[in-house]
Amino acid sequence: MTTSADAPSLLVFGGGYLGQAAAREALRRGGRASATSRDPETRRLLAAKGIAPVDPTDAKALGEALAAAQAVLITTPPDVHGCPALRALTPLAADAWPDWIGYASSTAVYGDRAGGWVFEGDPLNAATLAGARRARVERDWLDGAQGMGLTLQVFRLPGFYGPGRSVIDRLRAGNARLVKKPGQVFNRIHVDDIVSGLFASMARPRPGGVYNLTDDEPTSADVVTAWAAERLGLPRPPEVDWTDPEVSEAMRRFYLDSKRVSNARAKAELGWRPRYPSYREGLEAILAEKAP
Ligand SMILES: NC(=O)c1ccc[n+]([C@@H]2O[C@H](COP(=O)([O-])OP(=O)(O)OC[C@H]3O[C@@H](n4cnc5c(N)ncnc54)[C@H](OP(=O)(O)O)[C@@H]3O)[C@@H](O)[C@H]2O)c1
Repeated sequence: MTTSADAPSLLVFGGGYLGQAAAREALRRGGRASATSRDPETRRLLAAKGIAPVDPTDAKALGEALAAAQAVLITTPPDVHGCPALRALTPLAADAWPDWIGYASSTAVYGDRAGGWVFEGDPLNAATLAGARRARVERDWLDGAQGMGLTLQVFRLPGFYGPGRSVIDRLRAGNARLVKKPGQVFNRIHVDDIVSGLFASMARPRPGGVYNLTDDEPTSADVVTAWAAERLGLPRPPEVDWTDPEVSEAMRRFYLDSKRVSNARAKAELGWRPRYPSYREGLEAILAEKAP
């Protein structure tokens, strides 16, 4: 079976925000999509969207979905033991792995670069427990795939946003903050640009390939928030220092690292370009989509 990026048969392990976006794109291209969820209600919602739902704890159903797939995308975050998807799929796949495996990783593996540029070949230096776990799971997948001769690609993602999940929603809900950390800079990416990068890779698989999929304009988060508030005609949210207890632990983790993540390799090797090169185009697209 060959992978057709035009109309793939895609299995997503982890049918969450990114996983569903990728599954929808497979369907839009005339292919088939299945996605896992441990939650019966989410499986019902997946089915309603035309995505074949799979209970990942049902080994028989998961094995069948894997056997029918030409491509498999892993979006589950690591747990304390490593990668839940690697544990679930390895005993089922035997020598029947799909022709394209994508692992959704995180730019957290790079740690802090004091605002400098970082590239895929640079040594990893995760500053958080989550980043260190992610680096270990990447290694597990890369080593395992090399040993088994699989076409595995790793995609390192910064914080991503899209419809229903962006600063626009936080501003409208009144819980956005201008979090201040002097000199802080990082990338973000619109979810549609991740999906286009994944499909570009399916068309040009490279075993062991590691790609940063990021926007072109690393920017501090308070600049993005202030721009969006002005664009929406809403008051500027209150300023808080990044160390303020009001800033959640999850949010604070974003501020530990300051870096500019290069997307040059994905552009050169995959012929990929972000449709939304900065937050401005990406947020405008969300606003346009929601307009009546
Ligand atoms: N969001 C960001 O800004 C960002 C940035 C960089 C990297 N990432 C990474 O990118 C990936 C996708 O992100 P996302 O925002 O799409 O995540 P998400 O919406 O939370 O989707 C991930 C899905 O994985 C499933 N899952 C989690 N743990 C599992 C387990 N132990 N066994 C089986 N399934 C499990 C969950 O599905 P059920 O609970 O329905 O089974 C969940 O819906 C994640 O690994 C995330 O850490 C995210």
